[in-house]
Amino acid sequence: RRSFEEEAPVRHRMGDRAAEKPADGSRIPLGSAAIPSTPGKFLNTPDTDMTTAANQEWARQLLPRIADSTLGVVEAEAARVDSEKEVHDIISGALRAQEAWAARPMSERANLLRECARVLAEHRAELLEVAASETGKTFEQGDPEVSEAIDFALYYADNAEDLASRDDIVFEARPLTLVTPPWNFPIAIPCGSIVSALVTGSAVVVKPAPQAMRTGAYLVRLLHEAGIPEDVLRLVDVPENEIGQALIGDERIDQIILTGAYETAKLFARFNPLAKIKAETSGKNAIIVTPHADLDLAAYDVAHSAFGHAGQKCSAASLVITVGSVERSRRFQSQLADAVLSLRVGWPTDPTVEMGPVIEKPGEKLERGLTVLGEGEKWLAKPEQLDETGRLFSPGVRTGVKKGSEFHRTEYFGPILGVMHADTLDEAIEIQNGTDYGLTAGLHSLEPAEIAEWASRVEAGNLYINRGITGAIVERQSFGGWKRSAIGPTAKAGGPNYLMHLMVGSDPVEGE
Ligand code: ALA
Repeated sequence: RRSFEEEAPVRHRMGDRAAEKPADGSRIPLGSAAIPSTPGKFLNTPDTDMTTAANQEWARQLLPRIADSTLGVVEAEAARVDSEKEVHDIISGALRAQEAWAARPMSERANLLRECARVLAEHRAELLEVAASETGKTFEQGDPEVSEAIDFALYYADNAEDLASRDDIVFEARPLTLVTPPWNFPIAIPCGSIVSALVTGSAVVVKPAPQAMRTGAYLVRLLHEAGIPEDVLRLVDVPENEIGQALIGDERIDQIILTGAYETAKLFARFNPLAKIKAETSGKNAIIVTPHADLDLAAYDVAHSAFGHAGQKCSAASLVITVGSVERSRRFQSQLADAVLSLRVGWPTDPTVEMGPVIEKPGEKLERGLTVLGEGEKWLAKPEQLDETGRLFSPGVRTGVKKGSEFHRTEYFGPILGVMHADTLDEAIEIQNGTDYGLTAGLHSLEPAEIAEWASRVEAGNLYINRGITGAIVERQSFGGWKRSAIGPTAKAGGPNYLMHLMVGSDPVEGE
């Protein structure tokens, strides 16, 4: 009998991919096991298969490097911008370079994106290393991000060629795009934002979040290595003072792709009222659990949606709403407590860790979420600070959260979940919709009529049924929000309309 390792296909092992480039050169291979590709069908890049001995060994070798990684340091230092004049010159340079960039055929830029995807796949280990070292992202959370970054490049390459082949509309690039990505997805989000704008023919200035500057710098280095011209894609590290404001407010910027807090997006819109802003912003996301749910599955999904990456996702579950007898039976709460308390908390250098640190010592708002109970609320699991860094907390769960209370409506962006109760599904939907945001939303119910009712009424861009509510999959489930979770065009990232909204189109009509 063969061992488990021998039987399990190695779907992704570093180093194998480049060697197995398919003959048509159109896609990077999906691993050393031959996976049939269907022409015209987009295939998502698989995450590292941790059931194989080879990949487990690969990950083990990566862990010691996390503690003292220096990746991205040199590039980040070189990107430091100290004056408003420098900001001005960088934008002028990018605009000059853009003309030649936009003049290249779309297929050439699309092929460069495919090369970016190949280079990113080759450097999966380094990307995980720098993100873990700089932001505390665990391997389990970082690995799918690399896959998503690769998918963005491949998908937008295909999508760009489709747009270029249309004869009813002529698309033109907006000359200059400012990309300001967040620290919580420091690989996939900057990558998707940058390559989407680049492939349209826009020049890009990217300003990573200060907490993820090195990861952003390393990513940009890889994109340059893949062949993106250095003056068309410029990395900047600007301080958040008048120099930063000079960058954001420069009227030569045609569009801004921002992922961050709603308040930040409002500030950007004030600094630069003429730029088109495409922003993915905040969320206050809930999962409804009805008496028709598989409660074991629901408890697991709620715990993982709430505490993956220590809750620091715009998509994270921050509320669970139990319906009718789910609360009265008490079974769900004890299952939830078990699921939450069994999560392993620690630093990403420990491969078994499921929940890592928060990005920095909690600010006033998160501190409040971790310590102050509202009226009628009780701790099901009280968050405890676990070490002297002030960044590691055990997961917190509070019950008895009331409709309209501070906890119901506030995004805390950390490892804290609230349990609410509704008598009926109708009331639960009202609670779920009862915030300013509309990013992700979940339902756990095996009853088709409930699912149909919920899906038709819930106000959120990304709906998840009988599964966790974080994660997006390029092409299969594009990502974007409603209400105050988004500003600008509703086209979702990783979906068919995204590129179109980054361009201007003209619709030629000939005289008869
Ligand atoms: N697409 C990211 C997630 O779902 C934001 O977690």
